[in-house]
Amino acid sequence: EYNYNNLIVEVENKIALVTLNRPEALNALNKDLLDDISNFFTNADSDSDIRVIILTGSGEKSFVAGADIKEFANFDGHQGEQLAAKGQENVFDKIENSKKPVIAAVNGFALGGGLELAMASHFRIASTNAKLGLPEVTLGLIPGYGGTQRLPKLIGKGRAMQAIMTADMFTAERAYEIGLVNEVVEQVELINRAKEIATKISKNSSVAIRHAIRAINASDKDNGFEVEIESFGNLFDEEDFKEGTIAFIEKRKPNFK
Ligand code: CAA
Repeated sequence: EYNYNNLIVEVENKIALVTLNRPEALNALNKDLLDDISNFFTNADSDSDIRVIILTGSGEKSFVAGADIKEFANFDGHQGEQLAAKGQENVFDKIENSKKPVIAAVNGFALGGGLELAMASHFRIASTNAKLGLPEVTLGLIPGYGGTQRLPKLIGKGRAMQAIMTADMFTAERAYEIGLVNEVVEQVELINRAKEIATKISKNSSVAIRHAIRAINASDKDNGFEVEIESFGNLFDEEDFKEGTIAFIEKRKPNFK
């Protein structure tokens, strides 16, 4: 059902493992790959066979080594602005606002647009060999897929300033210490661990999780508390709320549809 040139999509037990697959370019994000990701997320949103999405990169070396430098090397200012605007709208914001939880399984380099992709995901786990950074200033650029906005929120403004100015990469251990990734595991364990987390999530109420994503994302805006109240209220009218509370009272596990 899901057939793409630059993505491998494997759906099993309601979990979609999505592997970005341009190994010859360390999975750098060119237009075709970005289009594939955008189309996948549009389709996944309404696919009842998918409850949780895991994003990873093919190979053992790289998650995503950034936007494809060769593709934009001769762009002018207008084209550069379009690249960032279209990318943010069609891919990065779409991932952040996905109704289904998105876990980035960072299996190696996550640089530039690669780290931005991991940061647009709902949370991140990494393998011990992962290296994460925003090296755009070494190219005479700044991050353009949300990096200047999402990195300070995740690790604090001062650390983000230093990381972007120096272009230094964080090791997986350091990324864990500063909260950029939630867990670090051996590379051979990475996908298993991501699936284990995804399985746990998939057993909880998907409608509640959808509202949780919406409310947590609203913490970046100034109406977060209102969104939380509205979502909280909406959930009382859902079947899952009846099932979850009745199961608690009957001392059994809930069975969410
Ligand atoms: N774009 C296009 N091609 C890339 C790429 C990228 N971002 N990153 C790697 N590649 C290609 C290389 O050109 C190389 O291809 P060839 O064999 O055809 O020359 C292949 O992938 C393998 O890469 P290396 O030989 O460089 O591998 P390495 O092990 O020596 O180095 C690396 C690995 C440190 C990740 C290095 O490839 C690198 O620095 N890549 C670029 C990282 C970067 O600057 N990313 C930011 C991009 S800008 C951006 O993302 C803008 C934005 O925010 C929107």
